[in-house]
Amino acid sequence: MRTPLLAGNWKMNGSVELVEAFGRAFAEAKLPEGVEVAIFPPFPYLDAAQRTFADTPLQLGAQSLNPQQSGAHTGEVSGSMLCEFGVRYALVGHSERRQLYREGDEAVFDRLLAALSVGLSPVLCVGESLEERDAGRTMEVVLRQVSVAMSRLEPAQRARVVIAYEPVWAIGTGRTATPAQAQEVMAGIRDYLASDNPELAEGLRLLYGGSMNAGNAGELLAQPDIDGGLVGGASLKVDDFLAICQSAG
Ligand code: 13P
Repeated sequence: MRTPLLAGNWKMNGSVELVEAFGRAFAEAKLPEGVEVAIFPPFPYLDAAQRTFADTPLQLGAQSLNPQQSGAHTGEVSGSMLCEFGVRYALVGHSERRQLYREGDEAVFDRLLAALSVGLSPVLCVGESLEERDAGRTMEVVLRQVSVAMSRLEPAQRARVVIAYEPVWAIGTGRTATPAQAQEVMAGIRDYLASDNPELAEGLRLLYGGSMNAGNAGELLAQPDIDGGLVGGASLKVDDFLAICQSAG
């Protein structure tokens, strides 16, 4: 059985006040048995989040990391720095990083390796644009993104990766993929990985992301190949995110 993971990606949003609100709510919340929940706040809030979440089930993730361990990289943050704040997960290849900061497949792979090298679990984000979907290229694009990252890893490294399928057209648009659309692509990702290593594919966690909210999470999370969610906007509201987490039971 795969452990469900609900991940809240705050993007460039939030405040110390929001960290504290999540700390209070999740200290008392009843979460379904065996569900993992992680918040990915902006870097400056990691310190407060580590302290505030200590008495809660909330884990911590980072939204990015630099491929290097240290050095002259003004404005960047390394994986080992993240580990000092109790971070467990790191997003790599988020579509906003791919588009706005021109991180291509190679840059994504470097970050994946950097995360693994310090013991973080990378959350590898993949997904097609609307043009690619309309052109019938969804599986080709998604499997390329998966394969350039996964095919060069050792099996033991691969087992530590979480894959998030986030169709770009569904991110921040309110236009969620239907459960059937998401399931189709995610089953395709698992089948692709199973053709090389069935046991690994069976154990790998696949998250859906893209306008997931308290109203649609239950149906999405009920799909056989959806093991959790990567939630943007709805993870900024304590009650909404809690409701999403509760629908993973
Ligand atoms: P929204 O949930 O706001 O669509 O964002 C999804 C996302 O990009 C999470 O990483």
